[in-house]
Amino acid sequence: MNLHSHRKDEHVMIAEKLYRKKSSNGLEGVRLIPANLPEISLDEVSLSTTLAGKKIEAPFFINAITGGSETTDRLNEKLAMAAAATGLAMAVGSQSIALKDPAFARGFERLRSINQDGIMLANLGAGHPLKNAEQAVRMISADALELHLNAAQELVMPEGDSSFYWLDNLVELKKCLNVPVLIKEVGSGMTPQTLKILAENNFSYVDLAGSGGTNFAAIENERRKGKETLSFMQELGLTTAETLLGARKHERELHGLALTASGGIRNAEDIVKCLVLGAENVGISGMFLHVLIKDGTDGLIERIEELKLGVRTLMALLGCRTVSELKKTQVILSGELKNTVEQL
Ligand SMILES: Cc1cc2nc3c(=O)[nH]c(=O)nc-3n(C[C@H](O)[C@H](O)[C@H](O)COP(=O)(O)O)c2cc1C
Repeated sequence: MNLHSHRKDEHVMIAEKLYRKKSSNGLEGVRLIPANLPEISLDEVSLSTTLAGKKIEAPFFINAITGGSETTDRLNEKLAMAAAATGLAMAVGSQSIALKDPAFARGFERLRSINQDGIMLANLGAGHPLKNAEQAVRMISADALELHLNAAQELVMPEGDSSFYWLDNLVELKKCLNVPVLIKEVGSGMTPQTLKILAENNFSYVDLAGSGGTNFAAIENERRKGKETLSFMQELGLTTAETLLGARKHERELHGLALTASGGIRNAEDIVKCLVLGAENVGISGMFLHVLIKDGTDGLIERIEELKLGVRTLMALLGCRTVSELKKTQVILSGELKNTVEQL
């Protein structure tokens, strides 16, 4: 089997194996406060919001996971079916494999025919040249392109990169592409410093991708057979709560950068907390992958509908009709989280 394809299978297998070893996304340190006089009825709540400037009907989406091997193409097809059935937006996993070997492009292309009218995001690493980015977008007629920053993963990956000059390339891609560009981490969490640099360079969309969920340093450590394990690399990064609070603290310098929150999101409460802390929308990968593997496409569709109801219910309890109203509600932070944020 092609080495790159094999890696795709391994990522899914190891992510699922590590799924139960939950670390903290920090959101347990954020308490929501119910309204005693909500003055609202459940059916008045609107779940709609935006993702990379496009209107979406639910404030969460299927974030980048996979594609590029027989097994992972099948998983992607099921994710696309679930996205089409529920109206959720969906990002595909990195398409670099399909650029190196066009035989793997078909698996990605098929997703657009399954999810014809949905919002779909293409995905590539931050170092790809313009022609690759254009090809990835064309491959799935993408509505936007996610470009991932994954230095920690590459450094632990046995066959990974060791040089990370990305910023100029990202600026060039953003300037030349005719779809919106969203810059994402993959689980290390965007720092306020990075967000300021992105804002200064006129980026509009960022996925904070905090720690507390899928941990790529841990996944790559599992793949370092016969090599020393770099376990300390798994402990680094800002949690999902910390990245959101860091962004909120420095909001004035971020010039309206629209935030996606992700990293360890498992339930409706996590989603609503992220929206209250300032996210426009919330990305979910590991949990959706886990449900898909365990309960199949129908199980995933059921879970997505449960999440929508859960978010709607919580929004009603907070007295909020819209996602933007959520940002005005108060939260109580744990002492530990408050202390950490003071240092950001
Ligand atoms: C098996 C697997 C493969 C992934 N592959 C990609 C990828 O190719 N590109 C990317 O940007 N993110 C990738 N991610 C990262 C997710 O998009 C997300 O940033 C990260 O998993 C944190 O979210 P989670 O805790 O909900 O899983 C992958 C995640 C998983 C579980």
